[in-house]
Amino acid sequence: MQFPLNRPANLAVFASGRGSNLDAILQAFPQGHKIARVAMVMSDNADAGALEKAKQRAIPNYTFPFPARKKDENGQGRKAFEVEAEKYLQAQRIDLICLAGFMRLFSPEFNERWQGRMLNIHPSLLPDFKGLQPQRQALEAGVTEAGCTVHFVDAGVDTGPIILQKRVPVLPDDTEESLSARILVQEHLAYPEAIHLILMGKARFEAVL
Ligand code: GAR
Repeated sequence: MQFPLNRPANLAVFASGRGSNLDAILQAFPQGHKIARVAMVMSDNADAGALEKAKQRAIPNYTFPFPARKKDENGQGRKAFEVEAEKYLQAQRIDLICLAGFMRLFSPEFNERWQGRMLNIHPSLLPDFKGLQPQRQALEAGVTEAGCTVHFVDAGVDTGPIILQKRVPVLPDDTEESLSARILVQEHLAYPEAIHLILMGKARFEAVL
């Protein structure tokens, strides 16, 4: 499948938490939008705020457990989640998966299957500060600039081809909370912009044009 499509793309948003990026995507692509619609929301956490937001808008939403890696040594829990997710992704004819605060890592097979059609947002200027608590990592490193990155997902952790980044200053009295809040404002602009670029065929896994 190649973008642009000659119909609105079906987006799946995967979120483990509060869902403010889901909100930003929903505002940018409301129902009836020509380019995209959020066709489903999936979570590994039944208490995720993102699920509530989906329910309020009557968007199909699904929860399935996805155990942390250290509690899932043989990967059976991850496999079960992926099988379940794939069922819904097919049923909703999903074109693009947007990971928005989804705190689990997929198998190489799942990543491969969705290569070029799965995005992630990360609150750092990758390749700096991959993994957990990147805002805290930035403060501890003493950098003067931070930000967020939207990238295609590949086999690594926070390593795939970068679609776009937005930068913010780090201020002398910043805490993890104040810096995270400043970055989050930019995340809400960056994610819809990146989705738009992909759906217009202007960013591809092989080459961000
Ligand atoms: C966002 O800051 C997002 O970048 C981050 O989780 C937060 C989710 O917020 N994602 C990661 O750290 C992924 N490695 P939200 O639920 O309000 O969108």
